[in-house]
Amino acid sequence: MESHLHYPTDKPVIDLAAIVAAVNPERLANDLATVAKMGGRSDGGVARLALDDNDTRARLWLIEQASALGAKASVDAIGNVFLDVPGSDPALEPVVTGSHLDSQPAGGKYDGALGVLAGLEALRALNDIGFTPRRPLSLVSWTNEEGARFSPGTSGSAVFCGVRSLDETRLIEDSDGVCLGSALDTCLAELDAAGVPRRPLATPMYAFLELHIEQGPILERAGAAVGVVEGIQGVSWFEVTITGSANHAGTTPRAMRRDAFEGACALATALREAARDDEDRVRFTIGKFTVSPGSVNTIPDHVSFSIDLRHPEALTLKALEAEFNKLAQQNWAGCRATLTPLSRVEPVAFPETLTTLLDDAAQELDISAPHLVSGAFHDAIHLANHCPTAMLFVPCRDGLSHHPDEHTELADAVAGTQLLAASLASLTR
Ligand code: GLV
Ligand code: MN
Ligand code: MN
Repeated sequence: MESHLHYPTDKPVIDLAAIVAAVNPERLANDLATVAKMGGRSDGGVARLALDDNDTRARLWLIEQASALGAKASVDAIGNVFLDVPGSDPALEPVVTGSHLDSQPAGGKYDGALGVLAGLEALRALNDIGFTPRRPLSLVSWTNEEGARFSPGTSGSAVFCGVRSLDETRLIEDSDGVCLGSALDTCLAELDAAGVPRRPLATPMYAFLELHIEQGPILERAGAAVGVVEGIQGVSWFEVTITGSANHAGTTPRAMRRDAFEGACALATALREAARDDEDRVRFTIGKFTVSPGSVNTIPDHVSFSIDLRHPEALTLKALEAEFNKLAQQNWAGCRATLTPLSRVEPVAFPETLTTLLDDAAQELDISAPHLVSGAFHDAIHLANHCPTAMLFVPCRDGLSHHPDEHTELADAVAGTQLLAASLASLTR
């Protein structure tokens, strides 16, 4: 979205030193440890799947933090939780920050949670120094970003922004056949019981800023504590099915076999080859592979696998999708293949007005913050079409994420939070 942001120069000067000093590392570390216990795994990781009991507990914990901030908590129909701090001019659209509290099944303490908790700490720091925003200032935790339990992910932001319908999203089932709608109703009933009021979807925003761990190696290699994100690469998810015919494994000669696994392997290899680029910019992953009927001595008649395909340029992503469709139409070991799109999001570029504001704030704070493009998708990919949006990244050790050992140094998390707080203050002037 084209940015409509203007930065009047006649606004009160912000005391950046006071903001930086008010960000409290111990408070942020305590919050990270507290939230990590909700769904904590014995290997040090986190399993807080979207809309499970731990995810609901984490929401209730977040809601409890509102009163100390002078904020009002509310929840919308897809379960996104907001803490709204009033501005001195309540008629203005709010500046919003946040991320998600759900995790992968064997996830870490930082993916998503750091963005919510850094946002909370930024709001607390501004509150502690008596900063009164002119614009309202909100913290949000989006529902089901990960898509690990209910696929595809980014449900909360996609429904909020009108990219997907609430009705269609409520019908998504997890692997136990529980639909998102019924898990959501259970969660909302607990929030209702806690007296949390409902709020509408699609409310206007002046700007959205999301802090997140990078989930890649770039910042760590650059020795940078923070990065300014220029945009998010596009992503296309498919399900591929290959249909052959089942028969006896021991008696069926080669010419009579229509082995769906053989066809799937050949097609998977051809797809991978089509996605191989010299520049190493295409990302191609087969993360799920199912063989049916799944018997040692029966030729498989049915195989399905997933494709996660990503590229920063819309045209290249489209060309790859067309190539994949062409390949799927061929005969694979005598079997028929179908390629079904599951989810698709175009690449987004964040507006320069906002990335420049982040650059300027970083410079004033004397933080070196290189630019990079996000390889992972985030709720910001949908918000980018709702209001001017940008992201800040902090490094994670060995570029590791979606793993129990995911780790971000507290000093980097604090630097990111300081830059976030300064940027929010600048935007809400
Ligand atoms: C988000 O977790 C992604 O897969 O990019
Ligand atoms: Mn995330
Ligand atoms: Mn993730």
